Amino acid sequence: MNKQVIVKEAEKFVHSILKGDSSGHDWWHIYRVRNLAKKIGENEGADIFICEVTALLHDIADEKLFGDEQKGLEKIISWLKDHKVSEGDRNHIVSIIKTMSFKGGNNSKVETLEGQVVQDADRLDAIGAIGIGRTFAYAGAKGQLMYDPDIPVRNEMTKEEYRHGKSTAINHFYEKLIKLNNLMNTSYGKKLAEERHQFLEEFLERFMNEWQE
Ligand code: ADP
Ligand code: NI
Repeated sequence: MNKQVIVKEAEKFVHSILKGDSSGHDWWHIYRVRNLAKKIGENEGADIFICEVTALLHDIADEKLFGDEQKGLEKIISWLKDHKVSEGDRNHIVSIIKTMSFKGGNNSKVETLEGQVVQDADRLDAIGAIGIGRTFAYAGAKGQLMYDPDIPVRNEMTKEEYRHGKSTAINHFYEKLIKLNNLMNTSYGKKLAEERHQFLEEFLERFMNEWQE
């Protein structure tokens, strides 16, 4: 199958699965990550086909969405087979998706340039104005408060603590978002992250100032 057609088909496939999501993984998140991955990939000289298809499929295996990462991965593998993606490309795409998501920072490192590109694109969508919007949307969807001054800010949280409602949207900034600029892989990704990071810092400062007015 022609690569352009595969990308179009991947768009349709992901759209049909994620269009109704309201926890920060809706189709437009995927759309933005794909566009950023393309832009970063072009700047870094990466394989754009791999970057695009991986960006489009990257959240299908998120355990937060389907409760089972393995099932998601199998879905991706059979989709790639059905669309005659070569075995080499297929393995590459799947290995990126397996390793890229941030879970406390102790995952194995994404190894290929294309993996680094897609991970940077996904991280960029978690910071800046859009990242702020997504964080509050996610917290609302999970029944968390936006902020609770009685809960000391923590930069590490266990799954248990989440489950017992000890996180807030603002806490997520400290736990993850303000660390992302230092975790960017590519130089172009870093450049894009800097401005978005500044905005996060400014937002936090204003938020805390207003809280005390
Ligand atoms: P990604 O698409 O980057 O893998 P995640 O699955 O980690 O995103 O989360 C989706 C969105 O929700 C992101 O914007 C993320 O920052 C935000 N988010 C994730 N976990 C929390 C949390 N515990 N509290 C608030 N926001 C969160
Ligand atoms: Ni994502």
